[in-house]
Amino acid sequence: MKICVVGTGYVGLVAGTCFAESGNDVVCVDNVAAKVETLRQGKVPIYEPGLEELIRRNVTEGRLTFTTDLAEPVRNSVACFIAVGTPELPDGSADLGAVLAVARGIAESMDGYRVVVTKSTVPVGTHRKIREEMQPIARHPFDVVSNPEFMKEGAAIEDFMKPDRVVIGAASPEAFKIMRELYEPFVRTGAPILEMDNASAEMTKYAANALLATRISFMNEIANLCERVGADVDQVRRGVGHDRRIGHHFLFPGVGYGGSCFPKDVQAVIHTALENGMRFPLLNAVEEVNDAQKRRLVEKVVAEFGERLEGRRFAIWGLAFKPRTDDMREAPSITVINGLLERGAAVAVHDPEALGVAKSVFGDKVTYHRVNYDALERADALLIVTEWNEFRRPDFARMKQLLRHSVIFDGRNLYDPEVMREHGFTYFPIGRTPVRRPG
Ligand SMILES: NC(=O)c1ccc[n+]([C@@H]2O[C@H](COP(=O)([O-])OP(=O)(O)OC[C@H]3O[C@@H](n4cnc5c(N)ncnc54)[C@H](O)[C@@H]3O)[C@@H](O)[C@H]2O)c1
Repeated sequence: MKICVVGTGYVGLVAGTCFAESGNDVVCVDNVAAKVETLRQGKVPIYEPGLEELIRRNVTEGRLTFTTDLAEPVRNSVACFIAVGTPELPDGSADLGAVLAVARGIAESMDGYRVVVTKSTVPVGTHRKIREEMQPIARHPFDVVSNPEFMKEGAAIEDFMKPDRVVIGAASPEAFKIMRELYEPFVRTGAPILEMDNASAEMTKYAANALLATRISFMNEIANLCERVGADVDQVRRGVGHDRRIGHHFLFPGVGYGGSCFPKDVQAVIHTALENGMRFPLLNAVEEVNDAQKRRLVEKVVAEFGERLEGRRFAIWGLAFKPRTDDMREAPSITVINGLLERGAAVAVHDPEALGVAKSVFGDKVTYHRVNYDALERADALLIVTEWNEFRRPDFARMKQLLRHSVIFDGRNLYDPEVMREHGFTYFPIGRTPVRRPG
């Protein structure tokens, strides 16, 4: 099938590449010329495991191309996917400017029936807005399909190739048929293609993200309570996770959620509720808890070293909002680092993939280290913010030598407190009893 995907960010690039990998002819469109040029040269502007190799193969085999021109791919495609950003506006609502601009562009260039598919996360009712935007311009019939994306950055290819489910919201048999044909190669192992109305498909994406964010904030509150009552949140997590009604996923406490999706999607649900005459106090609390949690690590630093941190130096391991990505949008590391800088501390940072992105966030306010141990030199303490695998089994003896004080604030509970005691560290995990170096 010939398709085009508009927007070559984390979602569009992965979706376009995976559709090409299953044999379709895919044109990826982006309005940032430099991005398209980079992609044409075989380079990938973002870090996503396995993506570069997959792009190269499909480009070489002629199934995947990149352009800034929307008109021609629209004329040649049966389905046009919209995968542009829907950032948060100051009032918490989702900015649909780019989505509607692309919809108008598709309407102008269509020369026959088209399926217009929203992959971007959009508020309930956007399918109607897209239709209203396109109707006066389009000279041919079209269907609007709502096809939310559930992939996780860091495992996006795997998630797209083997989804738990595919959600398709539409109103016409023709549109469902085309979408089924596109997705059937990805659901051979039995995952369902769930066909529903557009509004329910749009709501499904927000409900999923809001529920996952709720689990995280819930566990963060339980962790904070564990610290007060002397319980161990890791034991509690296992205790509740084995309940099949609950399950193990998204029960890890930490430094709060970030990324380009959860914060803005929670806000968008709150906003949609308000627009429809309803308050959503549960999600207000989820957000409030998350904002507080992002400050927890620095509160622990202050409790240990005092409010004034001039002359102190701290090492940060992990900047990306989660491992296996270079994405720092809304990353908790930003709150943590700013909290330290505001109190006068010097900050030395390391991340396996996000140093380039971090430079555009912090400029020369921090020092950047390609090797994790280099960031520790003369630091008063280490703060772990992202749970990259390579941080799980470090050389503790070397760390002790490099750090000025053997203190670790672990925002991801990577280490066994008993092991930290044996190594002679002062260790502050989340929701577990801290370990103090003797003397
Ligand atoms: N990142 C994720 O993990 C994820 C997962 C599921 C859903 N989503 C949703 O998917 C959407 C895209 O997210 P993303 O992370 O890929 O965003 P992104 O910012 O990484 O990518 C968006 C891309 O669209 C391009 N673009 C913007 N306006 C355009 C226009 N008018 N014409 C052509 N290209 C244009 C931008 O240049 C950019 O390359 C959002 O709605 C997001 O909520 C994201």
